[in-house]
Amino acid sequence: MDIIEKLKNIRKEAEKELKEISKISDLLEFKSKYLNKKTGKITEILKLLPELAVDMKRIVGKEANMLKKDIEAEVKKIEKALSSKKDLVFYDITLPGTYVSKGYKNIILKVLEDCKSIFSNVGFDIVEGPQVETDYYNFEALNIPEDHPARDMHDTFYVSEHILLRTHTSPVQIRVMEKQKPPIAMISPGPCYRSDTPDATHSPVFHQIEGLYVDKNVSFADLKGILTYFFQSFFSKDVKLRFRPSFFPFTEPSTEVDISCIFCGGKGCNVCKHTGWIEVAGAGMVDPEVFKYVDYDTEIYSGYAFGMGVERITMLKYQINDIRLFFENNLNFLNQF
Ligand code: DAH
Repeated sequence: MDIIEKLKNIRKEAEKELKEISKISDLLEFKSKYLNKKTGKITEILKLLPELAVDMKRIVGKEANMLKKDIEAEVKKIEKALSSKKDLVFYDITLPGTYVSKGYKNIILKVLEDCKSIFSNVGFDIVEGPQVETDYYNFEALNIPEDHPARDMHDTFYVSEHILLRTHTSPVQIRVMEKQKPPIAMISPGPCYRSDTPDATHSPVFHQIEGLYVDKNVSFADLKGILTYFFQSFFSKDVKLRFRPSFFPFTEPSTEVDISCIFCGGKGCNVCKHTGWIEVAGAGMVDPEVFKYVDYDTEIYSGYAFGMGVERITMLKYQINDIRLFFENNLNFLNQF
């Protein structure tokens, strides 16, 4: 077929196809078929030029360029018409994509990880215990018999008569000592449950970190040492500790642990209720009665234990004033950390 004839055919075909274009994808396909600089139909013709006689070169060159211009003009018209259609979406691939946010840790998990690393840096093992417990581990073996008033403060959710959601992480002490002989240095972080009505400082679900250290010649001074190390590391501050006499059935002596107020440095402010101190943990020397449940020789071994609320220390460190915020899944709150 002669080359002029070919050009005419291309023009005919293009005119027909231009009429059929109704959407942007048709247009893009058309442009690539006819106007693509490397593979378009017009380029195909222009590629033949070098082989033609001089006269023909001129004629074909002129015809081909005219065809190109005509097609380009039509394409422009169609582009304009299509872009004025309101429902048409143009995809601009040079625009930045839609941001898909990545999941990340809840602040409580992050704090738990920080605490674990502070304790494991000084040789404590991390142990997890079951959240569904028997009353033997949650109460009995911790020296809280059935009729003991301490059970009142630990009202919880019962699965059946003797199976319950643990009210504290202390049962892990028993589970660890049953399996292992001293020396023991462990912490046990995790969720606990109590049937509390939620308010700014109470939640039916909360987290604790339990600590247990048992060996020969363990003294109250060791307990003071580890807790001072922990709270100073956790708050990155030179906080002071105060030990107030208290009572827990599983420790003797027992103590409530306060830190000097991290907001006012001990001078007195609203957070510490003008006392200069904030309560952060319960602790004590393991009661020999507890050792009896796990067959430890009370003449040879002594130990200390402590338990602290994770939400509480998180609220202090990050200045959060309502415990419910941790569990409400409000992204405006959670995204801050
Ligand atoms: N288990 C106690 C509670 O939840 C806290 C506690 C106090 C844990 C003293 C201990 C401890 O290990 O020695 O109220």
